[in-house]
Amino acid sequence: MFALDEVRLNLADVAAGARRRLDPVHWDFFAGGAGEERTVRANEEAFTRRWVVPRILRAVGERDLRISLLGSPVSMPVLIAPTAFHRLAHPEGEVATARAAAGAGTIMVISMAATRSVEEITAGGGVHWFQLYPQSDLGFTSSLVRRAEAAGCRALVVTVDSPVFGRRERDLRHGFVDLPPGLVCENMRDASGQLRDIEMDAGLDWRRISWLRGLTTLPILLKGVLHPADARLAVEHGVDGVLVSNHGGRQLDQVIATLDALPAIVEAVGGRLPVLVDGGIRRGTDVLVALALGATAVLVGRPVLWGLAAGGAAGVRHVLDLLRADLDRALALAGATRPGDLSADLVATVARA
Ligand code: FNR
Repeated sequence: MFALDEVRLNLADVAAGARRRLDPVHWDFFAGGAGEERTVRANEEAFTRRWVVPRILRAVGERDLRISLLGSPVSMPVLIAPTAFHRLAHPEGEVATARAAAGAGTIMVISMAATRSVEEITAGGGVHWFQLYPQSDLGFTSSLVRRAEAAGCRALVVTVDSPVFGRRERDLRHGFVDLPPGLVCENMRDASGQLRDIEMDAGLDWRRISWLRGLTTLPILLKGVLHPADARLAVEHGVDGVLVSNHGGRQLDQVIATLDALPAIVEAVGGRLPVLVDGGIRRGTDVLVALALGATAVLVGRPVLWGLAAGGAAGVRHVLDLLRADLDRALALAGATRPGDLSADLVATVARA
């Protein structure tokens, strides 16, 4: 639980609390990114160039943040992005995160690199999607998909920005290459209980997406779409949603900030699929801007880990509640009552030196 002397008015406060509690090596694993971390910074900075142009006198007394996403109701357009190794942040790990997500009525995307099993994570109820790094062993990949289906996951989020691992210099400096003893990626056990390493398959191409499409009736989202031509290909390959993401700046440094990539993807998709976005979302106004620029919903990665490290399930819940209250207030002050009211004319791009 939170120490009473700690004020947590915003996600930066929660991050500061997490930093005090975490082993510095694990803090760096969570906070860091690839190369010089230009993209890590750019994701947040992109929001500082967007300014809200509010409407007035719009009777905003009754607001409703709920949306429906690929058949699942969500209490707000803010979801939990898949992040690895939650037990580095808290002994309960992903089970605590899932409890907070269910309590807040939002969707948790379970990382394939979770340190609790998909069955343990989904057991507490709520809506879960499963994130997949397709493995070159198709038999093992399909057994993982079947496991996620059986555990009740309602969509597959296929991460496509990782043909090889990004080069994360903080981890290299610390020599952080493996989980500490006792922690494993629980979903990487094969039928005989043997643990496998997660493979980044450099051979992955669109044929594997077609193969996955034939394998499961679950909705499929592609995570890591940044180029509009790929968004069009995603539509042609029958996927159900795209997630504009640069992996929180952890894969290729110098990649475009996700907010800057979003408008062209929205245009390419042309309303045929939901377009989600993650990266650098820290305030309700960030959510508002992303939605106004055409996102159907956003996801948050690191803030959830900060909440988990700072206060377990209650900490994650606090992060989600802060974002909800902040978005609700931002909507009212911008003259809107629901996510669907937001449109691009409410945002101006003005760079400040
Ligand atoms: C991630 N991310 C990630 N993505 C994924 O598809 N599978 C994974 O296992 C992980 N693991 C992971 C670990 C950590 C520590 C971080 C910070 C991120 C990327 C994640 O889903 C998301 O794209 C970003 O975290 C979004 O950016 P913010 O919200 O962290 O700025």
